[in-house]
Amino acid sequence: MTEEKKTNERFATKKQLVWFFLQGCRRYFCASVIFAALVSLLDLINPRIIGYTVDAVLNDGTYELPAVIETWIAGIGGPAVIREHLWWIGLIVVSVGLCGAFCRFMWRYNNTKAAESLVQRMRNTLFEHILHLPFSWHSENHTGDIIQRCTSDVDTVKMFLSEQLTSLVRITVLIILALYFMFNIHVKLALLSLMFIPVIIGYSYLFHRRISGAFRHADEEEGRLSAIAQENLTGVRVVRAFGRESYERERFEKKNKEYTAMWVRLMRILSTFWATSDIVSGLQILTVTAVGAVFCVHGEISSGDYIAFIAYNAMLTWPVRMLGRVISNLSRAGISIERIRYIMNAPAEADVPDALEPPMNKDIVFDHVTYQYENGSGDILKDVSFTIPAGSTFGILGGTGSGKSTLMYLMDRLYDLPEDGGKITVGGVDLRDMKASWVRSQIGMVLQEPYLFSRTLSENIRIAAQDAGMTEIRNAARIASLDESIERFQEGYETYVGERGVTLSGGQKQRTAIAQMLIRKPPVMVFDDSLSAVDAETDAKIRAAVQENSGESTVILIAHRLTTLMHADHIIVLDKGQIAEEGTHEELLKGNGIYRKIYDLQTMHE
Ligand SMILES: Nc1ncnc2c1ncn2[C@@H]1O[C@H](COP(=O)(O)OP(=O)(O)OP(=O)(O)O)[C@@H](O)[C@H]1O
Ligand SMILES: [Mg+2]
Repeated sequence: MTEEKKTNERFATKKQLVWFFLQGCRRYFCASVIFAALVSLLDLINPRIIGYTVDAVLNDGTYELPAVIETWIAGIGGPAVIREHLWWIGLIVVSVGLCGAFCRFMWRYNNTKAAESLVQRMRNTLFEHILHLPFSWHSENHTGDIIQRCTSDVDTVKMFLSEQLTSLVRITVLIILALYFMFNIHVKLALLSLMFIPVIIGYSYLFHRRISGAFRHADEEEGRLSAIAQENLTGVRVVRAFGRESYERERFEKKNKEYTAMWVRLMRILSTFWATSDIVSGLQILTVTAVGAVFCVHGEISSGDYIAFIAYNAMLTWPVRMLGRVISNLSRAGISIERIRYIMNAPAEADVPDALEPPMNKDIVFDHVTYQYENGSGDILKDVSFTIPAGSTFGILGGTGSGKSTLMYLMDRLYDLPEDGGKITVGGVDLRDMKASWVRSQIGMVLQEPYLFSRTLSENIRIAAQDAGMTEIRNAARIASLDESIERFQEGYETYVGERGVTLSGGQKQRTAIAQMLIRKPPVMVFDDSLSAVDAETDAKIRAAVQENSGESTVILIAHRLTTLMHADHIIVLDKGQIAEEGTHEELLKGNGIYRKIYDLQTMHE
């Protein structure tokens, strides 16, 4: 997938996308951030209490405290009274601890709530958006990769926003306040401690820059790996049938090995980072403790202050190192957001303003249609013009790759005809001026490669007509000659098909697809090679039943077997994207062209 910049993107920046996803869970995030800050604040109180206890209560010295607290202590009788009741100190320390615990709980609780609602929103939005992306987007992008973006990338973003971002607030509050207290206690010692901080932060920044490319690469590799796995699972039969197991296994193993090697490399870099920052932090603690001890011995700093200072300094090393981690995760999250943005920025199918919903039981006119797929395959259809009269049965014949299915995709607006590619009209209205959903609801397509969901047969049949009852389902199955097969299944219409259930034969699948379409009774019915997998007799039976039940509907038959479409009112013969011949069966036979040749070939052995 290429993540190229496009103008008029829905989300121009990553921030916009994050803000959009945060809708609905912002209050939880705010609460979580506030409690995270409170936790830091409470963590910073106890060293001061200890410092005061050592200096003022136990050693009879002085210890600076905020004026309000000094007054309060004087009110209860001063340090001397506290010395008599040392358990008061214990009580205060425990109370502060309890408050801290409560804030920690609230922080975690709100955080989880925020994270889970965020993920839910992200997944739902992505799924909904993907469902509305044009067919062409889906053929350009790997399913495995899309799935990976919707799962692990979503998780990375969640982890970052919930875990790291609140940590960032907590860390910032902790660093600023700890430094403030430290400077209050002893400026020289605080400066000494501070000296190390830019080193660690600078180091983590450089590290972050170095690692970001590697993480993007890792994510892409993971996507490729899932794509191979997904492809092989879907195509497991082909793999078996062609004895390609060992080839596919080797391919997967190779990719997997590369992927593992890359992670090992990444982890080595990460470990080096942690080890180095461990050394620097250790060095900082060592220096500050040693120098502080010297100051303390020389009476430059009291014992209580020294203890409090060391406690603050130790508190500092953790957040400063965390900062490195948060920054390195920032790059990962950034990449994941970018990968999600790629999906969210893919333009969903959009109708023109005031799109129409005209009646579709009218003449369908292909007017100088020229089309090529976006992958630069060259013109697949070249200046094709023909009319399908309303209510008629229309046949399209042509060799493989001649563009028959493409014609139908265009008619169903699965792909849109470019402005200069001619036009397709129904009753004089250009398809491009209609609502795509309307067009598709009116044109029933039995696709050349039917796809069934892992659901029951009845659910599959009524997939496009949710409110259809059993009578309608049975009726559609009967017209599609599927009823006899279904009756043979133990659970009849409630038989599970697909991955978890019965595997249908090619012909049964085709007929299920036909039933799926018939149940909607659309004004236009397209059978794209839909009778290829059934025998000639069933073919004739289905066609007769469809004919009988089609009423006013226009029927378009695409086939390789002449008998399937020879009774059509009009037949066109497509050759390399152009109309080679057209007419009725009889006219075409007289024409002595491709049609005649195919006819002779197909009837020769009879
Ligand atoms: N999504 C696509 N992207 C790019 N090229 C495509 C796509 N679908 C089809 N083609 C190309 O367009 C050409 C016409 O394909 P089409 O499916 O319309 O042929 P067809 O006449 O239906 O063939 P068949 O009888 O085998 O079904 C083929 O060369 C095919 O490779
Ligand atoms: Mg086709």
